[in-house]
Amino acid sequence: KPSKTELLARKNAEAELGGGQKRIDAQHGKGKLTARERIALLLDEGSFEEIGKFVMHRTRDFGLDKEHYLGDGVVTGYGTVDGRLVYVFAQDFTVFGGALSETHAEKICKVMDLAMQNGAPIIGLNDSGGARIQEGVLSLAGYADIFYRNTRASGVIPQLSAIMGPCAGGAVYSPAITDFIFMVENTSYMFVTGPNVVKTVTHETVTAEELGGASTHSTKSGVTHFACENELACIQHLKQLLSYIPQNCEDEPPMLPYEAGDEVRPTLNSLIPDNPNQPYDMREVIEELVDADSFMEVHKNFAENIVVGFARIGGRSIGIVGNQPAVLAGVLDINASTKAARFVRFCDSFNVPLLVLEDVPGFLPGTDQEWNGIITNGAKLLYAFCEATVPRVTVITRKAYGGAYDVMNSKHIGADMNYAWPSAEIAVMGASGAAEIIFKREIAEAEDPQAKLQEKVQEYTEKFANPYRAAHRGYIDEVIMPDQTRQKLIRAFRMLENKVATMPKKKHGNIPL
Ligand code: COA
Repeated sequence: KPSKTELLARKNAEAELGGGQKRIDAQHGKGKLTARERIALLLDEGSFEEIGKFVMHRTRDFGLDKEHYLGDGVVTGYGTVDGRLVYVFAQDFTVFGGALSETHAEKICKVMDLAMQNGAPIIGLNDSGGARIQEGVLSLAGYADIFYRNTRASGVIPQLSAIMGPCAGGAVYSPAITDFIFMVENTSYMFVTGPNVVKTVTHETVTAEELGGASTHSTKSGVTHFACENELACIQHLKQLLSYIPQNCEDEPPMLPYEAGDEVRPTLNSLIPDNPNQPYDMREVIEELVDADSFMEVHKNFAENIVVGFARIGGRSIGIVGNQPAVLAGVLDINASTKAARFVRFCDSFNVPLLVLEDVPGFLPGTDQEWNGIITNGAKLLYAFCEATVPRVTVITRKAYGGAYDVMNSKHIGADMNYAWPSAEIAVMGASGAAEIIFKREIAEAEDPQAKLQEKVQEYTEKFANPYRAAHRGYIDEVIMPDQTRQKLIRAFRMLENKVATMPKKKHGNIPL
């Protein structure tokens, strides 16, 4: 008979082996790490404190009364990342394929509740065959308990999900409610129904990777915010993201030490092409403006006509939303609007100030966009900016046309500081389109209509294709040389750091969904 000390040591060893060495080897064989290995990579060395290590399921059906694993397929607890508290759960694929049982769900809920009560991020490392089939509705109830907590925690504590294996069926809806999803290329997938069901219902033949792999969800659907080349990269990205955000909605993002230096950025003066129809890469503007190597792009390969991500400026964490003239001329369409709206709302929920870099020719025309609801979807971005109470600064680099001018963090919808470069064109539309409409009759009746059109385009350009009309009104606070922008932004965000703004009392708004 083992001594009490030996018994505890044995149980600890058994729990740490999950579903056994054979299944651990199989997991490694697929190029995947185990739940415990992932946690070790994520947390500061020696900081992990496990909760519920000896929990076991209570099912008696289908022979499960004879099959028990300590921990029941999920490793849960807390620890630190760069010295800051986080809560974590990591599903263990070596135990029933990481399938979620009643008790497995209880363990996850326990750390979610602790995270909420103690105001720290919750990180889920997902690797699961879904609902534990032998448990039926008990397992479904477990999912619902998690979804309910995800929703209540939304906007209170940051919730991050890494998908490091299968995530199918109802299981997808927990990550979907969380703030950011990371996926690993080639070893993870997410779908509501797998390839076999798809084949039966729609007769489509598709692989799991094509249907719901990292590349699909990072380019086509936008479900995932980050596609990472392997598990190590995935965990590093997760940690990097944490460095920009606060512990909870009442906390501020961490500030890095910053030593003022030469903030003039001369290359910005020649970055905008003279021809307004010629593209340039807004990422180059971002790189010049932010602290060296601090830009972390979110949704990099989805709706590339808008660029969003976290960065630091003068050591301060900010969220950036920039139109991208290099893709579709930087036009706003459905995907760009929803991508940016969700990012703006995240930043606003967690006190991350917003910088908007604007060069937008308007909304994308066409039946595809109209029939799929560009009106409702474009309104999401407008709504997100209107309700944001964090410090908000805009720089118009070139075009600010039409309704898109209003939407992109204009003064009128609550931006705090609005700058424009001398190259800015703030107007209802581009000069040639405008001239064709308002001088239609004059042009038609002219002896030389083409020459008349040119004359009118010139007239409109001189009047409106500049930032000065808006600056005369105070809609633009200052017209600045591009090379001065970094300095202006550092000062503006510092000036705004104690901003107090509140929304009218309400239960919650009704964002057009
Ligand atoms: N419930 C209970 N056990 C499950 C399970 C589930 N949902 N999913 C997987 N498992 C078990 C398997 O029985 C297997 O057990 P074993 O090691 O004792 O043989 C183990 O987990 C590994 O699964 P396996 O199918 O061998 O792994 P795989 O990598 O080949 O495939 C999946 C992984 C997830 C694609 C596959 O297991 C699957 O399709 N599972 C069911 C998914 C589902 O429909 N879930 C319910 C809807 S939410």
